[in-house]
Amino acid sequence: MMKIIVTRQLPGNYLDGHENFDIRIFPGNGDIRQWILSNIVDADGIIVTLNERIDREIIDRASRLRVISTYSVGYDHIDVEYAKSRGITVTYTPEVLTEATADLIFGIMLAAARNIVAGDSLIRHDGWKSGWKPGFMLGSEVHGKTLGIIGMGRIGNAVLKRSRGFDMKPIYYSRSIHNVDAEYVDLDYLLSESDFVVIALDLNSETFHFMNYERISKMKKSAFLINGTRGKVLNEADLVRALENHIIRGAALDVFENEPVDSRNPLASMENVVMTPHLGSATYETRDRMAETAVTNLFNVLNGKRPLYKL
Ligand code: GLV
Repeated sequence: MMKIIVTRQLPGNYLDGHENFDIRIFPGNGDIRQWILSNIVDADGIIVTLNERIDREIIDRASRLRVISTYSVGYDHIDVEYAKSRGITVTYTPEVLTEATADLIFGIMLAAARNIVAGDSLIRHDGWKSGWKPGFMLGSEVHGKTLGIIGMGRIGNAVLKRSRGFDMKPIYYSRSIHNVDAEYVDLDYLLSESDFVVIALDLNSETFHFMNYERISKMKKSAFLINGTRGKVLNEADLVRALENHIIRGAALDVFENEPVDSRNPLASMENVVMTPHLGSATYETRDRMAETAVTNLFNVLNGKRPLYKL
């Protein structure tokens, strides 16, 4: 009987009805890495999330592994090349989460620009004393502004689509020119012209700390920086320094260099920052589709069929 190990409980019932497989799910307590290390030895397939680092040590333990199915679009947590060199297929869940992630990116951008979180917090802490006043909690307009998108993959493209509804002027910078309805510009131009800079890059050796102090310094003083893809593409210490020095007006982040983040992170004490805990794909519908996709990918490989998405 083939053995499948699953590192987290997945939404939906997509693992049901596979009685001819021995399916083991991490019980939720104990050290998950140790659990993987001991269970992968004779596993044929594994479903992981971006929390679990699947490196050489883990891959070397596996004697029969045929598929690593990640419940994510990102795959920086997996040594994909090494897995492939060992004949292991690596699958992932792109497309199904693109729109939800773009919604969230747009949401945190609006929240930062219009003081939505600060306003909510003010009321909850009994800080709204004076009623409506002309100069009270003023923010930045979003409609009609220039949106600079860095990276024109699926998520960048979905952010671009949304910008049309806000009458924004989208421009983008990417490794290559894409056939999209926005002007391709060089990075310096994008940084200096944009009112909102959205980072929509995946993490790899070329994009690590892509946004650093030098690049943030090229942004407008009134601009906002938004990151909704991977924390490590932005040098967080540099962002903190730039915000302290009022180089830009604010930032909105759904992803961080080291997650989870708590109130000790210097960003947490900055008023001009909106933060959410890696919620890009966190909707009922999207997480369900990700489960369906990750499970289908896995069984397809084990049953000798093509997975929906492989790396
Ligand atoms: C989320 O960050 C993902 O990679 O799916």
